[in-house]
Amino acid sequence: VSDGTADFRDRDPQWWRSGVLYQVWPRSFSDSDGDGRGDLRGVLQRLDHLADLGVDAVWLSPFYPSPFEDGGYDVADYCDVDPSFGTLGDFDDLVTAAHRRGLRVLVDLVANHTSREHRWFLESRSSRDSPLRSWYYWRPPRPGTVGGEPGAEPNDWESRFGGSAWEWDPATGEYYLHLYDVSQPDLNWANPDVRRAVRDVVRFWLDRGVDGFRMDVITKIDKTDGLPDVGLLPGQRWADASIHYLDRPRVHDYLKELRREVLDRHQPRPVTIGEAWAVPVDTARGYTDPAAGELDAVISFDHVLIDRTDDVADGAARFPRTLLDTVVRWQRGLGGVGWSAVYWGSHDQPRALSRFGDPDPRFRRDSAAALITVQMCLQGPVLLYQGEEIGMADPPHWSLDDLRDVAALRRYSLAVQDGGDPATVLARVGRAGRDNARTPMRWDDSPGAGFTTGTAWIRDSGDPPDVSVQAQRGVPGSVLEFVKRAIAFRHAEPALRDGAFDEVLPGHPTVFAFTRSLPDRQILVLAQWASEPVECTLPDPTWATATVALATTDDPARVGDDGTVVLRPWEALVLTRNVSD
Ligand code: GLC
Ligand code: MG
Repeated sequence: VSDGTADFRDRDPQWWRSGVLYQVWPRSFSDSDGDGRGDLRGVLQRLDHLADLGVDAVWLSPFYPSPFEDGGYDVADYCDVDPSFGTLGDFDDLVTAAHRRGLRVLVDLVANHTSREHRWFLESRSSRDSPLRSWYYWRPPRPGTVGGEPGAEPNDWESRFGGSAWEWDPATGEYYLHLYDVSQPDLNWANPDVRRAVRDVVRFWLDRGVDGFRMDVITKIDKTDGLPDVGLLPGQRWADASIHYLDRPRVHDYLKELRREVLDRHQPRPVTIGEAWAVPVDTARGYTDPAAGELDAVISFDHVLIDRTDDVADGAARFPRTLLDTVVRWQRGLGGVGWSAVYWGSHDQPRALSRFGDPDPRFRRDSAAALITVQMCLQGPVLLYQGEEIGMADPPHWSLDDLRDVAALRRYSLAVQDGGDPATVLARVGRAGRDNARTPMRWDDSPGAGFTTGTAWIRDSGDPPDVSVQAQRGVPGSVLEFVKRAIAFRHAEPALRDGAFDEVLPGHPTVFAFTRSLPDRQILVLAQWASEPVECTLPDPTWATATVALATTDDPARVGDDGTVVLRPWEALVLTRNVSD
């Protein structure tokens, strides 16, 4: 849907409210040079696929210089491209080519922490007197203890990836804080020089033409003064310290400052979508109420946390009603005020199809289409993760040798150290792990799936041959062709941007039914979220006369005059009607 110019960016500054943003995890998207790793030229070569899908923007996960200890979210230089991904020149070409096709470009701002190889950290670590010492959190051992010995850590905080959040640095005799991997020291945002340096990074990418930012773990950039202990429960070695680093008051100040000093001065104003781990709806409203001037939208996690208490529990369980209730709570809670991204999967989650749909060959296509139908009809910017448009699923199993993700490997070794049975631990960690989403994108049926002519850096998804772009392009009834239709439908219906959300069959065990309404237009979405047929009754039987605007089957269910509908397994349909007074 190219209009051949870049001015499309000046139109509709609120494009993101109903926009579809396609997430590329560059390492696994497309490899242009045969080294087995995806790269920016690879993305450029696939832009026609994205334009053809009809998405509005591409969000690129990190491609910056990085030792890649956490998939590139350990950034060693914010203003360059890692040689394995290409050059800044390749990035510029990619932006130009995207804009020419009417696609906006968002990059990932990973500023809660740097890599331990970033020059800021190398300088900070060089001595206690370094001018950059206070750019990070350095603390002495606990009084009366010996640094580096168990129990000497400055506090009891746990790292998100397991174990202590502190790493001992013998050279300067202090610990540094890392909420994530030991390779990711946290930046101290309380230091104005750090915030100034981050603003420079933001300007750097704006000058190169980017249209916005996805802000990594942005709600964790303020920590409680004094970094106090949480207090351990019996049997605990480390404590979940989120109360001391999630949604702390100064996050709001820092975000407002960034808006004021940089983003608001840029025309059109770049969009900001902030990753907000475990954020409550009310807090999310505070971040994204346009009047607050902080973030445009958050990426919330409630709906992807329903089947787990941490990163290893029960990754495969499906609880349709819990999921749907969570979605409803967010749609209602933000409606009319703030914005939260609508997504089922990402580079951090197992594949949505395996988790929320049903990859069984009998239900695979229809469940993928049902997920897409609901997603495209909800309110808020849609994040579509690479491979979802062809219905990619998790690999059937993971061997230890195949795992690449630091979080999975660390959780595996900690659980085994704790006496867990290796095979059981591996099955759990593998099923819930992030590598599931990081298998190579499937472009065709060649040995490297069109992803690479070399040897891919990670195992393949094991999906059947018809799960590829080539096998589905132009094929009526394929997931890919359905996704295109659903995106086009979303773009054509203003009610899907601004229309009020109302649930229609609250509490139904499997049917997700809701309306989106503007004064003159109503849309009804019905989706059976299970692998059995179902009969349900709509409270408003007058929907019987509405038009079927989108359906996952060629022979969609009819609403009877009494409001009853019989849906097939994973059948979804969308009805529209005009309202006159
Ligand atoms: C975010 C990223 C994730 C990364 C973490 C630390 O959650 O999405 O991939 O591991 O931040 O940067
Ligand atoms: Mg490559």
